[in-house]
Amino acid sequence: MSTQSAIPYPFPWTPVMEVPEALQGLRENALVEVRLPSGDTALLVTRYADVRSLFADDRLSKNIARPDVARITKDNDLFVDPKIDGDPPHHTRMRGLVTKAFTARRIELLRPYAQQVTDELLDAMATAEKPVELNEALAFPLPILVICKLLGIPPEDRTKFRRLVDGFLSVSKLPPAEVEECRTGLWDYLVELIDYKRANPGEDDLITSLIKVRDEDDNRLSEYELHHWTRSLLIAGYVTTASQIGTATAVLLHRQDLKKQIQQDWTLVPSAVEEMLRTQIMGSSIGTLRIALEDIPLADGTILPKGASVLLSEESANMDEEIFKDPFTLDIQRAENHHMTFGAGIHYCVGAALARMELQVATESLLRRFPDIRLAVPAGSLPRALGGFMEGFSAVPVTW
Ligand code: HEM
Repeated sequence: MSTQSAIPYPFPWTPVMEVPEALQGLRENALVEVRLPSGDTALLVTRYADVRSLFADDRLSKNIARPDVARITKDNDLFVDPKIDGDPPHHTRMRGLVTKAFTARRIELLRPYAQQVTDELLDAMATAEKPVELNEALAFPLPILVICKLLGIPPEDRTKFRRLVDGFLSVSKLPPAEVEECRTGLWDYLVELIDYKRANPGEDDLITSLIKVRDEDDNRLSEYELHHWTRSLLIAGYVTTASQIGTATAVLLHRQDLKKQIQQDWTLVPSAVEEMLRTQIMGSSIGTLRIALEDIPLADGTILPKGASVLLSEESANMDEEIFKDPFTLDIQRAENHHMTFGAGIHYCVGAALARMELQVATESLLRRFPDIRLAVPAGSLPRALGGFMEGFSAVPVTW
């Protein structure tokens, strides 16, 4: 399906420090046709109630490695993989093997480690020459070190895998040959890593426990699935959170009134983190592409047609006036903030509790340690990481 009227997607990041203007009024129609970077079109579901119910609807499939489904980009397959079945029951079995490591209780046990890492990073920041670039000083190293600990990956590998992951996630940033080089390089790295972990099992890490399941050889986990999920957890485990820490902090430093509200009442940290997640100005919904297996009527009777490529728009749902009062206002005291930033249903983000914990630790520690911290450049000049899967700020220079 392709028509002239399709709106280019992801939406442009204007104004710089707020949610895209294109989200204003978008929910007048339950479905909006958008044009992806590949040139293909997809239907964007705009309203909260529809997005929430479709996340839990098995008439939408995540098996999108088919010629009739839109591609996000022609240059990169991203997460599209014909060898992985993204629907129940296969997905349910696989997901069950990893979710135990991500329960709220287990994540709370990681909080002291996240705090220790953050304190060390902030110590280093305090003695560095100003301005300091926040992505490299805090936003990336924190989630990377935490996911390395959880998965049991040697932290010294991070320089190697970061370059490969960055290329793997290119939408239009890199030419196809370089994307391919990174995809292959990342897979080779994982093969090496899993061989290493087989020979040197950790005491309590997720890759070691997945290898044990695999080696029991009772068909619960194939070798390919082991590699695939290790890759997904590594990538999802830091790229999104790092991008959110960087952009959310930039917004808070731009809005010094909000920063001061938090500094006067530290109990606001969790609700501030949720509000920054709701207004998620670090990325779009391109990761949530699905195909409709049947005609599906939406709440207002509009039909989502069988065969359509579908994007469940968390960012539009989060701006739904029916659900959120003054949705375009950043209100860090907002109660009942049931945003859709982590999705919902059977694919609900495995790492939501982990991301929340890291965001809380990073936000509070930074604002306590550097009470006068501010952006070192005008907010409007912060560059976006365009052409990647996450379009957060590519650099956030700060001073104090
Ligand atoms: C701010 C940070 C994060 C955001 C905004 C985010 C967002 C999302 C969203 C929207 C989905 C659902 C996609 C869909 O239904 O199509 C998802 C799934 C997922 N997320 Fe996250 N995520 C974040 C952090 C993390 C972390 C820290 C991990 C940890 C490893 C993680 C692991 C996953 C995995 C494995 C899935 C796939 C779940 C499934 O298919 O069952 N995410 N995430």
